[in-house]
Amino acid sequence: MKSRLKIEFFGQGADTARLLPECRRLFDGMGRKYENVLGWVDCRQAAQGQVQRVLEKARQWRDIADTLVVVGVGGSNQAARGVIDAMGARGMNVVWAGNTLSAYELRRTLEQLEGHSIAMHVIAKNFETLEPGSHYRVLRRFMEERYDEREMARRVVLTGTEGSRLHEMAKERGHLFLPFPGPIGGRYTAFTVVGLLPIAAAGLDIDAYMQGGLDMQAQVAQREDNPAFRYAAWRNGLYAEGKNIEMLASFEPRFERMARWWRQLFGESEGKDGKGIFPAYSIYSEDLHSIGQYVQEGERRLMETFISVRDDGAVLPVPADAAARDGFDYLDGRDFTFINCAAEEATIRAHAEGGVPCARIEAERVDEYALGSLYYMMMAACAVSGQLLGVNPFDQEGVEAYKRSMFAILGK
Ligand code: PA5
Repeated sequence: MKSRLKIEFFGQGADTARLLPECRRLFDGMGRKYENVLGWVDCRQAAQGQVQRVLEKARQWRDIADTLVVVGVGGSNQAARGVIDAMGARGMNVVWAGNTLSAYELRRTLEQLEGHSIAMHVIAKNFETLEPGSHYRVLRRFMEERYDEREMARRVVLTGTEGSRLHEMAKERGHLFLPFPGPIGGRYTAFTVVGLLPIAAAGLDIDAYMQGGLDMQAQVAQREDNPAFRYAAWRNGLYAEGKNIEMLASFEPRFERMARWWRQLFGESEGKDGKGIFPAYSIYSEDLHSIGQYVQEGERRLMETFISVRDDGAVLPVPADAAARDGFDYLDGRDFTFINCAAEEATIRAHAEGGVPCARIEAERVDEYALGSLYYMMMAACAVSGQLLGVNPFDQEGVEAYKRSMFAILGK
């Protein structure tokens, strides 16, 4: 059975109906204003007919290699990383590179790869970003020392803009080039080869993931009260009332990377022109012991969105141990899933009563279908939410400022 998403609201701002017609108007009217960046709106168009090719390449890789190193940063790796961390790799082990300038981390990555049979997917839209560009050089050398030209051609896939230097390098070396789809910005690429190939290599079901996206796409197209518009309306209604920080919270530690994907999506899309809801995230229950105090009683500028799952797929009851007299007998025989859900329920109640409006987006279980639905829902919500704020949700001019000064220091 498909794990459909449900959204509910607690505390202030629960009435989202007022802004829904505006969400509809903004979503349907995007084409007039942003026509060159809307390739993501239709998941099938985003995938550009590459699903079979992706599956074929992932199969080939799995026959010759045990580890895939993905080189990419920001929108060029976060979606796939979120899904693979949430689900756990069932095929190739995936190592993430091209996302730091720390020599220590890169050294650790090389050590991790030592002794493994490696394939590599380099994802760099413009092939100008320092982290993936520099790591690709190091990892290229690392692989060339181990594999001849023919093997390199089987093991390396490059993804970038058609006509870029990366594209030329693919031609020069005989490497497979899977183009970065033109009309899509990095952080909206969840259903393109950027997201699909690493997910498929990890042995996960990209058909179910895609179907989750498509079903949410249909809901967004057909219904005004779809989860994406309701979420966008809720957070913008609250922003207008002075809530300018949103905490994405989950009681599942394996959602941390997905939370980072969400943070990048909303942070880069909305934080501009002196506006924007600041996106933060917490992994509970651990972070209740760090940030919980602030959320409960600190400045009342927060709203909180829980990503929740009813059945986390594991059964683990607490064993009885009366002899120990440790004070935890009230847990005897209780399953950890039940205890975790109780902690989530209690937290939402306490935070909402403490003046933090809460939303809960809930899936029955963690699977590719639910994650695909969630990703599409968030991208659609973000596109609408940015427009409600009055900013362009598809550019990120502000990211260039530090780059200009860094390139000057490095003598580019
Ligand atoms: O959303 C975006 O466009 C950015 O976050 C990019 O994905 C990120 O900066 C990486 O860009 P590139 O793939 O060109 O290296």
